[in-house]
Amino acid sequence: MEDSIEVILQNHGKHLPTTKAHPLVSACTGVVLTGLYGLWSLFALPGFRKVPLNLKVPYLPSSKEQTLNTMKLLQGRTGRLADLGSGDGRLVLAASSAGFQCTGFEINSILVTYARNKARWSGVPSSQATFVKKDFWKTDLSSYNNVTAFLAPGVMEVLGEKLLNELPDDARVVACRFPFPGWPKQSSAGSGLDQTFAYDISSVRSYLRKMPDTVCAVSPCYVMK
Ligand SMILES: C[S@@+](CC[C@H](N)C(=O)[O-])C[C@H]1O[C@@H](n2cnc3c(N)ncnc32)[C@H](O)[C@@H]1O
Repeated sequence: MEDSIEVILQNHGKHLPTTKAHPLVSACTGVVLTGLYGLWSLFALPGFRKVPLNLKVPYLPSSKEQTLNTMKLLQGRTGRLADLGSGDGRLVLAASSAGFQCTGFEINSILVTYARNKARWSGVPSSQATFVKKDFWKTDLSSYNNVTAFLAPGVMEVLGEKLLNELPDDARVVACRFPFPGWPKQSSAGSGLDQTFAYDISSVRSYLRKMPDTVCAVSPCYVMK
């Protein structure tokens, strides 16, 4: 039995391709990879230079499941919604079709143009979905009673301070994938990478007021420049 396996392997080995790639294949792979990198940097980098290094967040679109989970946590809510870093506009468009008056803040002008066109092609009026090329860290969010954020774990604490300082008491914040450290969540939807977390600002404020050593809970730690 062992002999026959060896024979099969030996015979098969004769027909296996050699590991040396054809120069043309290598060249094409190089060109494709360089092109992909160029495309990625085109979408991910513009506008980033002015954002401090520790607050930089790259572009990564929400999955369908994540968008659905976000919308689940906004059920029963109405009014104005801000998506912080709106990317290609998918979350804003989903929220606008659920009746919210949405603003997507996005620092990357290419993504802003793309999202505006997508809204236009889908027939969404600008009263329902507006895309603004603006750094949300430098934006006063006090007029929004709903906020969604799919960003990065490293910025959630600073963002939490900003939102606590600016949002009205009746605001709800939905964090996608990355929860706010130290905030008590109202509910969550989904699991793993698609999980989303809802927070009611009034509950977060009263919870943090009771915590003796949360320095930033109710005082302005984040200063807009
Ligand atoms: C992880 S992506 C999420 C995109 C979109 N919200 C979604 O769910 O598909 C984060 C987005 O935030 C944008 N962004 C990062 N920092 C920003 C800032 N300071 N102001 C506005 N947009 C920002 C990035 O360009 C990127 O498009």
